[in-house]
Amino acid sequence: MAARPDTEEIPLARPVLGEEEELAVLDVLRSGQLSLGPRVPAFEHAFAQRLGAARASAVSSGTAGLHLALRAVGVRDGDEVVTSPFSFVASANVCVFERARPVFADIDPVTLNLDPDAAAAAVTDRTTALLPVHIFGYPADIPAFERHGLPVVEDACEALGAVHPDGVAVGARGNPAVFGFYANKQLTTGEGGVVTMADAAMKERIDSERNQGRAPDMGWLDHDRLGFNYRLSDVACAIGLAQLERLDGLLADRARVAARYSEALGGLEGLGLPCPDAGGNVRGWFVYVVQVPRGHDRDDVLRALREHGIPSKPYMPAIHLMTYYRETFGHREGEFPVCEDVAARSLALPFFPEMTDGQVERVAAALARVLGQAP
Ligand SMILES: Cc1ncc(COP(=O)(O)O)c(C=O)c1O
Repeated sequence: MAARPDTEEIPLARPVLGEEEELAVLDVLRSGQLSLGPRVPAFEHAFAQRLGAARASAVSSGTAGLHLALRAVGVRDGDEVVTSPFSFVASANVCVFERARPVFADIDPVTLNLDPDAAAAAVTDRTTALLPVHIFGYPADIPAFERHGLPVVEDACEALGAVHPDGVAVGARGNPAVFGFYANKQLTTGEGGVVTMADAAMKERIDSERNQGRAPDMGWLDHDRLGFNYRLSDVACAIGLAQLERLDGLLADRARVAARYSEALGGLEGLGLPCPDAGGNVRGWFVYVVQVPRGHDRDDVLRALREHGIPSKPYMPAIHLMTYYRETFGHREGEFPVCEDVAARSLALPFFPEMTDGQVERVAAALARVLGQAP
């Protein structure tokens, strides 16, 4: 890896793209088949194999994948879906797309994932699915959610590379699981996503609904169900194939940067760090999010870091307290105290595979100064 000078401006995130991706894209351009071509099944096959999943469907985004996965397990008008309020807004929005109600339950204060006991208490006779999120790449306790005998849709958009305690990769348990490939993700296709699943009929339905409801053996303008344009192009799939080739290195680099951060920040009093892997869970590192010490205002810390030239982001805001969710569902402060406390103190620091030790140390030193804890 080329050393970057440590005085360079530090971005919040930066994808790693090289000659392999350039050549892969050129190949597609020269082939003339930019969509609905051979790179789509090739990428799906390689992605499923990499995870140990039975099958995969490439889609235009993580959001599109979550939407199709919810439809595929039968969520419809008037249903309830139990999910986490500490997530990117898309995991709740997709329930609303189908006129189902996202029913939030509080999170575990350590893993920041949906708390299985809180989720159990939120299940009613109108619940038709649970939608746990592997937040920040830390595996959610999927067997605990499966106990209800209801379909489980896994939001694995942030969790490529994560592994459950039994050695099964996140996304390979058989439930529909959705990955996202926006540019800050472990693997990127610019925009894009994949749904993994065990069930062949589910793949058939998702493949049809991503392509305007067309069955594989139908004529071009014949459609036997309602569908969407949620296709992923061959250009994007070619980038995805090249990114898969370098995925081991990308994940290892992310883990290295995270370890360096945890070392550099470990001495700061009151600062909450991402939980270390425990009980056999392996995190697929996506972001490095800290919680500012109590008594500090997170937004003041963010502004002060910016003055030191360090970008950071409030990550994540609680979904139930967003304007749309307050106005549509009547949510208020105090409903999910763990989530609200974590969301109010969370700050994503610059994090990307090529981040140097020197850059991590610059961020850590700036944070120490801002918190009044510089040596
Ligand atoms: C937890 C989670 N869910 C869903 C999504 C949506 O993915 P996309 O942006 O690809 O639609 C994201 C991506 O940011 C995410 O982090």
